[in-house]
Amino acid sequence: MNAIRIENLSKSFGWLKSRRVQAVKNLSLEVKTGQVYGLLGRNGAGKTTTIRMILDLVRPDEGHVHIFGKHVHRDHAILQRVGAQVEGANFYNFLSGRRNLKVLALVGNIETPEPRIDELLELVGMTERSRRRVKGYSTGMKQRLGLAAALLNDPDVVILDEPTNGLDPQGIQEIRFFIRELADKHGKTVLLSSHMLGEVEQICDRVAIINRGVLIREGDVRELLSDQTKLQIEAEPLEAAVQVLSPHWACRQNTRSLTVDANRDDAPHVVAKLVEHQIRIFEVTRQRQTLEDFFLSVTGEEENEDVS
Ligand SMILES: Nc1ncnc2c1ncn2[C@@H]1O[C@H](COP(=O)(O)OP(=O)(O)OP(=O)(O)O)[C@@H](O)[C@H]1O
Ligand SMILES: [Mg+2]
Repeated sequence: MNAIRIENLSKSFGWLKSRRVQAVKNLSLEVKTGQVYGLLGRNGAGKTTTIRMILDLVRPDEGHVHIFGKHVHRDHAILQRVGAQVEGANFYNFLSGRRNLKVLALVGNIETPEPRIDELLELVGMTERSRRRVKGYSTGMKQRLGLAAALLNDPDVVILDEPTNGLDPQGIQEIRFFIRELADKHGKTVLLSSHMLGEVEQICDRVAIINRGVLIREGDVRELLSDQTKLQIEAEPLEAAVQVLSPHWACRQNTRSLTVDANRDDAPHVVAKLVEHQIRIFEVTRQRQTLEDFFLSVTGEEENEDVS
């Protein structure tokens, strides 16, 4: 079963220069149980709005959200199986991190014994700082506390809006590892948003790329990227190699090598063709396109506008 299913979700906010601000347009996607799924988009792409609609914090103009087959608005109780950290989540500044978690548990009617609080604080690396007031926390510390808060109810689905925002490089690595473990070790389904392409590439199984509220690509991270590879081949004689390959694949001759537009699955065939024609091969390397290149190639490099 799908953990999350979004159907034709749309949301617009007010008017700007006599045009509606359409934050999300006709968005549909499915997140399978146990997956780490990334919503990838630039600032203003509609990630937070989508997440708010999934959590029923914002009512969509059109469309539906189902979690484990239940309609979130009509069957609100399903949200008890969801833990979330949304942009701009606030804590009580005058209370300690630990105390904040206790208050959240109390308000949410979540039974949370002391050892569970300790365990959560340990998980997010906040044990030592947990008795200090949130007022003195850095952005990264608040981010970690937010993550602990999202896990209070031991949710099956964890939704994280830009979970590594404000963290230092080491913190980013820790949290990425931690998110992967939520899925791999604890069987949780994770939906996260990010504007960092490398991040999604590293931790997500699947990704939806959104631009100006519209879904432009969706798929398995590896598949999306393996569609777009190039082979760099050092061979002799180069002219002959180009002649042999060019009827089948686009290729370009460089000074000492050639670049062939070919998928991963084509690589053995490319090599076989060259061998068949007694061309000597010294090196074959596959250049993976980064998600960044991919993102730019599908969204274009136009200015990001809010209005459409
Ligand atoms: N409450 C609101 N009122 C008016 N406009 C809004 C509101 N919330 C979002 N928007 C607009 O909707 C669009 C999408 O915003 P959203 O916050 O969902 O983007 P985002 O992808 O989360 O961006 P970021 O990476 O900056 O967090 C933007 O144009 C934003 O200005
Ligand atoms: Mg956002």
